[in-house]
Amino acid sequence: MNYEPDPKRYENGMIYNRCGRSGLRLPAVSLGLWHNFGQAASSASCREILTTAFDLGVTHFDLANNYGPPAGAAETQLGALLKNTFGAWRDELVIATKAGYFMWPGPYGEWGSRKGLLASLDQSLKRLGLDYVDIFYHHRPDPDTPLEESMGALATAVRQGKALYVGLSNYPAELARRAARILRQMGTPCVIHQPRYSMLERGVEDGLLATAAEEGIGVIAFSPLAQGVLTNKYAAGVPADSRAGKGSPFLTAARLTPAAVDTARRLAPIATDRGQSLAQMALAWVLRDARVTSVLVGASSAGQMRENIGSLRNTVFSEDELAEIEAVLADA
Ligand SMILES: NC(=O)c1ccc[n+]([C@@H]2O[C@H](COP(=O)([O-])OP(=O)(O)OC[C@H]3O[C@@H](n4cnc5c(N)ncnc54)[C@H](OP(=O)(O)O)[C@@H]3O)[C@@H](O)[C@H]2O)c1
Repeated sequence: MNYEPDPKRYENGMIYNRCGRSGLRLPAVSLGLWHNFGQAASSASCREILTTAFDLGVTHFDLANNYGPPAGAAETQLGALLKNTFGAWRDELVIATKAGYFMWPGPYGEWGSRKGLLASLDQSLKRLGLDYVDIFYHHRPDPDTPLEESMGALATAVRQGKALYVGLSNYPAELARRAARILRQMGTPCVIHQPRYSMLERGVEDGLLATAAEEGIGVIAFSPLAQGVLTNKYAAGVPADSRAGKGSPFLTAARLTPAAVDTARRLAPIATDRGQSLAQMALAWVLRDARVTSVLVGASSAGQMRENIGSLRNTVFSEDELAEIEAVLADA
């Protein structure tokens, strides 16, 4: 079935923010393919979520070598859709991938060696059926490889034309600053950092957001809904069709705590008073900080994606609302 994107896709209310000091602008809401795009996902469902997003102005899709399951499957799913659905719109899309977590056995299949990072990028490009990705990230710091080597591999990817921009993920503030300086010296500025950030996980407020701003790096916040906990869907138990209900190894009891569920329950009325769902308020709250370029959401349905993009209809918080939210979060 041919896909014709909505001709009004750039007039539907999407906001595009400049990513740090780069020329790249990203949609305020981006879509990640960590869950829901593995081998078991139907290509019809993947297509519906991605085309709905694109029709509403979401131009940025985020992947990593290991997204699946099995690892690599999400890149393969998107690769097929880039060919048969989005082929004519490649230049309107920002596709990101990453390397750093376990991908293949032996000494080169994870972490941050030049050997591992560049081999992984070649594999990703093959699965995606692309000549280049727009952003290539180092997915996590490697305590044993010199930072110069990992950053050198990112710079090489750009020089080879296999990536347009480079980024860091899960780097703590001071290491990110050192990495950014090395990259700048190599002539390949770090344009983006991808940390975890939501109402329930605020570690980036302790220095990373400030460092990113000082270094001119954009920030794309992953798991801004705390993997779905900030939608209040777990208030009455674990629904069978939810991420936790489907047994994701990433949304375990350590994250889906009674305290987190209770915090979501207490935040919900504040969202209602703002005329938003809790998911929408949680996304707007992350975007309230001008240092955040984009919220990187996941979605198991096109409807969720629509709802999440709807967060942009109300991104302004009064002082009273912020204080009320802080009071709930301080209690958590
Ligand atoms: N760099 C890294 O180390 C790293 C780590 C993790 C993630 N990421 C990136 O960040 C992306 C997003 O992470 P995430 O999936 O954890 O983000 P999230 O937005 O916090 O959680 C997404 C999940 O919440 C549920 N959900 C989303 N919108 C909803 C709505 N409106 N109503 C009800 N439920 C809703 C869905 O799960 P169910 O419907 O299945 O319950 C969905 O799969 C990933 O795809 C990946 O690209 C990066």
